[in-house]
Amino acid sequence: MAASMRVVGLSLSRSSNSFKTVYVSQRCYLSAEAATKVPHENTARQMQTFASLQTERQEEASRTVLINCPKGVNEKKFIKYLSRYGTVKKYFFYETYIDQQLNTLTEEYQLTEENIRLRFLVCSLVKDITSAYFPECSVKPFGSSVNSFGKLGCDLDMFLDLDGISGKNTGKASSPFAIEFQMKRVPSQRIATQNILSVIGECIEQFGPGCVGVQKILNARCPLVRFSHQPSGFQCDLTANNRIAIKTSELLYIYGNLDPRVRPLVFSIRCWAHIHGITSRIPGAWITNFSLTMMVLFFLQKRNPPIIPTLDQMKNIAGAEDKCTIEGHDCTFSSDLSKMKLAQNTEMLDNLLLEFFTFYGNFAFSKASINIRKGKEQNKPESSPLHIQNPFEQELNISKNVNQSQLERFVNLARDSAWMLQQDTVCSPSRSESHPWGLAALLLSSALQSGSKGKRRKQREPASERIKFLLESLKTKQTNKSDLNLSHSNGKNSATES
Ligand code: GTP
Ligand code: MG
Repeated sequence: MAASMRVVGLSLSRSSNSFKTVYVSQRCYLSAEAATKVPHENTARQMQTFASLQTERQEEASRTVLINCPKGVNEKKFIKYLSRYGTVKKYFFYETYIDQQLNTLTEEYQLTEENIRLRFLVCSLVKDITSAYFPECSVKPFGSSVNSFGKLGCDLDMFLDLDGISGKNTGKASSPFAIEFQMKRVPSQRIATQNILSVIGECIEQFGPGCVGVQKILNARCPLVRFSHQPSGFQCDLTANNRIAIKTSELLYIYGNLDPRVRPLVFSIRCWAHIHGITSRIPGAWITNFSLTMMVLFFLQKRNPPIIPTLDQMKNIAGAEDKCTIEGHDCTFSSDLSKMKLAQNTEMLDNLLLEFFTFYGNFAFSKASINIRKGKEQNKPESSPLHIQNPFEQELNISKNVNQSQLERFVNLARDSAWMLQQDTVCSPSRSESHPWGLAALLLSSALQSGSKGKRRKQREPASERIKFLLESLKTKQTNKSDLNLSHSNGKNSATES
């Protein structure tokens, strides 16, 4: 894959002619990232006359070479190695374009600060209603609203926490005057949860300001009340007795912040899956965003060296304050990111994207289970087509709903996407506006179809308005980045023309 090349630009001292013999990459991928590494120099240059600036740049270029830095090679060691042939005065590593696309997509579609605040506000409004019955309850957001993988427009998952009432699980003693919450005798915890949600659902329907379309989905594995909060535009799912989901959100949040590559990769793969109908908001035999996220995390644990630790490794470094057991399930892991030390993995995002598709295009789904606790495939304990072990309730399969045909669609699309990313026409920038490339090509379903010429053709939906909008946004952002590069004079454009 050409775009997986990392390119280093080296400015050499005049005497080091031997450098000219070093392999000069045919492809150069230059980015704003590199430009930002020499900011003061650029400021000074702005004062120069046009002519002197051009002359200086030409002169600098004559002493600079572009070298392909093979993937997996440590940047510092690479420079040290090259220094044996002459003094390296300046160097910069460039991001590839596909990396930029993944980051751009994430920046464009992630939840904004205001959107997150609005989500907490809606929880607070729902709490005002529920506290009529349970004065010391709390309503907390979980899922993609808080786990750092949320996309604008995602639902608002809320958890009605009643444990604070009796002081259990909070670590705080309850006030002697607090009203003790006691459920009338019911046969099971599940029935208690159903009863509570039924009453709260009724209240939200009757009295919840701006709450419309209330549905009580009490027979689901996790009973919930679903409604739309019109003023914010959020689709809300209110659950109770769901503390493990909060812990899961915390775990995903930690993973999302452990390494800067995790969020763009998860985000882009979630977009890819959504656009191609691999995931859907409608409940059914589809892979859910939650399962897909687990698949990406597992893949990152399997890289060599791993990019993120396993859940067991995070548990092993946990302190006494991290100890947590919920309903008999051990949910202990360290939340101190600084304690996690992993060998350096320098893979670029575009390579990880390709490798993700290759990995799951060839995964032994028929016998292996995906397990982020161990970071290794386990034998499947049951015959569901897709088995992803729940990280905390380890006896559960979070993708039990997925049927064989949905899994096959995912595998075929992953193979097509891997194949496509290896094509020169796709992995490098296109000069034609109408020809999407890189991530944009993957997101445009019709391009994926024509890209797999010679391979089995499948019936896919035409590109929707939504995709067009997405691509336009990518293009615009790309143009802005190009402008930025030009203003910082890192020569990206001239390099890509060659
Ligand atoms: P979106 O599709 O953006 O809403 O992603 P999400 O992560 O919020 O997923 P979803 O709304 O479907 O679920 C919310 C949270 O519930 C997830 O983040 C998980 O913590 C939890 N969850 C979802 N599905 C399962 C499941 O099958 N098993 C378990 N144990 N937890 C689940
Ligand atoms: Mg959600």
